Amino acid sequence: MILLAIETSCDETSAAVVRDGRILSNIVSSQIKLHEEYGGVVPELAAREHLKNLLPVANAALREAGIQASDLEAVAATQGPGLAIALLVGFKAAQAVAFALDKPFIGVNHHEAHLYSPWIQSPAAPNPEAAEPSTSASATFAEIRPNVSLIVSGGHTLLVHVRSELNHRVLGGTIDDAAGECFDKTGKLMGLPYPAGPIIDRLAAQGNPQAYAFPRPLLNDPSDDFSFSGLKTSVRYFIRDHPGLLDDPQKLRDLCASVQAAIVEVLVKKTIRAAKRQGVRCVTASGGVTCNSGLRRELERACQRHGFILRLAEKRLCTDNAAMIGILAERKLLAQTPLPPLDVEVKPGWTLA
Ligand code: KG4
Ligand code: ZN
Repeated sequence: MILLAIETSCDETSAAVVRDGRILSNIVSSQIKLHEEYGGVVPELAAREHLKNLLPVANAALREAGIQASDLEAVAATQGPGLAIALLVGFKAAQAVAFALDKPFIGVNHHEAHLYSPWIQSPAAPNPEAAEPSTSASATFAEIRPNVSLIVSGGHTLLVHVRSELNHRVLGGTIDDAAGECFDKTGKLMGLPYPAGPIIDRLAAQGNPQAYAFPRPLLNDPSDDFSFSGLKTSVRYFIRDHPGLLDDPQKLRDLCASVQAAIVEVLVKKTIRAAKRQGVRCVTASGGVTCNSGLRRELERACQRHGFILRLAEKRLCTDNAAMIGILAERKLLAQTPLPPLDVEVKPGWTLA
């Protein structure tokens, strides 16, 4: 099946073409620069930018895949969750394409797409830490084993038990800030630009993670829930009580390493605990924060120590992209998930069950 997928849930305009479980193209146009000066994503600006970029991005995806619009056999788009007016741009455009071509259309849950993204693997990069392949083509969808999956992004932190393909149950989530939000907001307190997650990751590599002790919220709570707003507040007070600390480059690196260590320890320990409780042998992770080198390293160590197989989404598929939407859409169509009527609406608050 040749399928066009569109993703515009937040600040990435993305279009991908997938065919029989393979990614033929995956074009991502990021709006990071646009939102940087506001310290976060401005929905109205995001929607306007999607409107401007969607057609060139979709055309580039078709071109890179070497197909014409008339070759398409199905169309998919992110239906939610996300920013309502940002979602609308991609979703309505995708519906219009499906209508014009008289082909099936399916709306996809963004988190469900992240959930299955660790199973998309490029043969050229079997080791997730190895160099990424230069082309997005030729990824394949591996057979899924029962697993506990950590989805960590700017908007959500979820632990999910996957029993088999398309059969999953959410175990817990964040009760306040998401892990990515915690990276971004503590980074803002340190004077770093948005999104601070990747910058903290880079600075932390040369810092001492034990330099400063920050709380590990809900670490010993038996639930699978997370909470990161208290950690953010303690970083705020720490900076207030240590004037001048941010002007010392090494102390800033130590601060980044210490904050990252607190976030990563909670994510890793709670994931491993959930995996043991569910009796699975496999752990997976996806979402933008899964790009974090500390998280990847510590998940690898913990899984090795506790005898779990680990599947991390490839870095290029961790942050928002249409390929993961397309791959899941195709699986759903093949599984004969009933097609929604073409006039369905976006679901900005669509939570994964
Ligand atoms: O999945 P994603 O692209 O968008 C959402 O659905 O939210 O995730 C974006 C989030 C941002 O909070 C960003 O700071 C974070 O992922 N992120 C990172 C890293 N790369 C992206 N956080 C920590 N370390 C990174 N290397
Ligand atoms: Zn996402």
